[in-house]
Amino acid sequence: MLEDVQQILLDQETVARRVKELGAQITEDYAGREPVLVCILKGAALFTADLCRHIDLPISLDFMAISSYGSGTSSSGVVRITKDLDSSIENKDVIIVEDIVDSGLTLSYLLANLKSRHPASLSICVLLDKPERREVEVPVRYRGFEIPDHFVVGYGLDYAEKYRNLPYVGVLRPEVYMA
Ligand code: IMP
Ligand code: MG
Repeated sequence: MLEDVQQILLDQETVARRVKELGAQITEDYAGREPVLVCILKGAALFTADLCRHIDLPISLDFMAISSYGSGTSSSGVVRITKDLDSSIENKDVIIVEDIVDSGLTLSYLLANLKSRHPASLSICVLLDKPERREVEVPVRYRGFEIPDHFVVGYGLDYAEKYRNLPYVGVLRPEVYMA
């Protein structure tokens, strides 16, 4: 696995430090409230698991799984919900937790979808942001890191379902996905 990664972009300590900061920020911003963290499977699973342990509030967790019709390393924005939330989010303070915002198509679909369920509030928390690739604007409230336009894996992010368990975020060698 390691040989498929050409560069470690964010090491384990750097990620952990930033996730802790995001948790503290959310704790401050949502004081007195009980937000629902909506984890977008599978990519945000590791991020959500770490983030929620740094939020000192009576949160709840829910999960949504989507598959986006895209090939290889980019998404088409045509999104299908493969697992919906277990509970209603009506009148709840909802925070969408996603691994990465790239073109923005996936998150803008999710935002519209969840908005239609009438939450009290809705915000977005992403671990990674690739601003150079943005096609539609997405209002990201919490952002872990801005990264350059490389295809990255690890800490939940995959290529063809692999590499999610790498403890850091690394740049995948282009040979791996060009092959
Ligand atoms: P968007 O719709 O283009 O913003 O893409 C968002 C989705 O594409 C994310 O949820 C990821 O699943 C995937 N994605 C985008 N960039 C990367 C990357 O660099 N590595 C792994 N997955 C990525
Ligand atoms: Mg994803």
